[in-house]
Amino acid sequence: MSARSSMSSCTVSLRNPSESREVLTRPSSAIDRARRVKRIKKLLKAEDAVLVAHYYTDPEIQALADETGGYISDSLDMARFGHEHSASTLLVAGVRFMGETAKILNPEKRVLMPTLDAQCSLDLSCPIDRFSAFCDQHPDRTVVVYANTSADVKARADWVVTSGIALKVIQHLADCGEKIIWAPDRYLGNYVQKHTGADMLIWDGACIVHEEFRAQELEKLKLQYPDAKVLVHPESPPAVIDLADVVGSTTQLITAVKTMSTRRFIVATDNGIFYKMRQAAPGKILMEAPTGGVGAACQSCAHCPWMAMNTLQDVEQVLATGSNEIRVDPHTTQMAQRSLQRMLDFSNNQQVNVFATGNA
Ligand code: 13P
Ligand code: SF4
Repeated sequence: MSARSSMSSCTVSLRNPSESREVLTRPSSAIDRARRVKRIKKLLKAEDAVLVAHYYTDPEIQALADETGGYISDSLDMARFGHEHSASTLLVAGVRFMGETAKILNPEKRVLMPTLDAQCSLDLSCPIDRFSAFCDQHPDRTVVVYANTSADVKARADWVVTSGIALKVIQHLADCGEKIIWAPDRYLGNYVQKHTGADMLIWDGACIVHEEFRAQELEKLKLQYPDAKVLVHPESPPAVIDLADVVGSTTQLITAVKTMSTRRFIVATDNGIFYKMRQAAPGKILMEAPTGGVGAACQSCAHCPWMAMNTLQDVEQVLATGSNEIRVDPHTTQMAQRSLQRMLDFSNNQQVNVFATGNA
């Protein structure tokens, strides 16, 4: 599938998840878009910039990254790519913590974002003052935080982890006899605790997108499509995770679609990921896991409202004006680098692939 044709539409099912149909996601007219893309290409060159987008951004943003030699991946791999790429400016399309992580790992580069208002409910649930006070009450515990946190929270932590490596890091810490503070996602925390038996104090945060997936409705859909495999991101509720054939990070779910021989998949994560899944495995049938249930106006609304705030218009505007620059103070950068680096070193030693291949 060409980047162009895959940009123009995104298959999502709205009222009935069992009936996938083609709809345009935040469409620009083809001519408007072509003009804008031309201007953006020029600006990227003039500003020595590269576009790095998250899998959950709208298809037209991901297509722009494809068309301009940019990159689409998960949050940490976006930062790794930014580090390896020669561009002096990284334009990060995603949510705030992703821009901050890119800046922390690439302090010498200018990091811009299409919008600074794109937040994350996990990050918002874990303000540094409350979190730090909680950690202070438990000085005997190792502090492990998910990547979906602010720079300040990462700086307060001993470890940062992504969903792709959380199980292995927590298992390692439990084997060393360490007691853990985990923040902020309680569902991922509970999942990891269940599988490792670690002694964990778990913060009470949740992702507003994944929290909405419904086990009862998913069971019905499974009965309707017994041939389908169910792929679930571990930010989902436990009853949904229990129905999964594969539980994994965004990158791991894309790999599953690509490598499993199954033709049909029910996917419990943000539907922005379908853009990459289709590229990775053309011809496979992808269905959204249900969120609403009987009587709901929308039976699947699996798209992060903050990710959706990234638009082509803002990409152009930010490149033209240099606005929306991410800044992280040097002390916070240094402390957060330490906890991020622990994860990177661990993954290298364990040969755990926390990163995508780029063209998963
Ligand atoms: P990744 O770390 O896999 O990119 O996921 C980020 C996220 O926001 C999941 O909801
Ligand atoms: Fe945060 Fe959930 Fe949006 Fe991911 S999908 S950025 S976890 S709110």
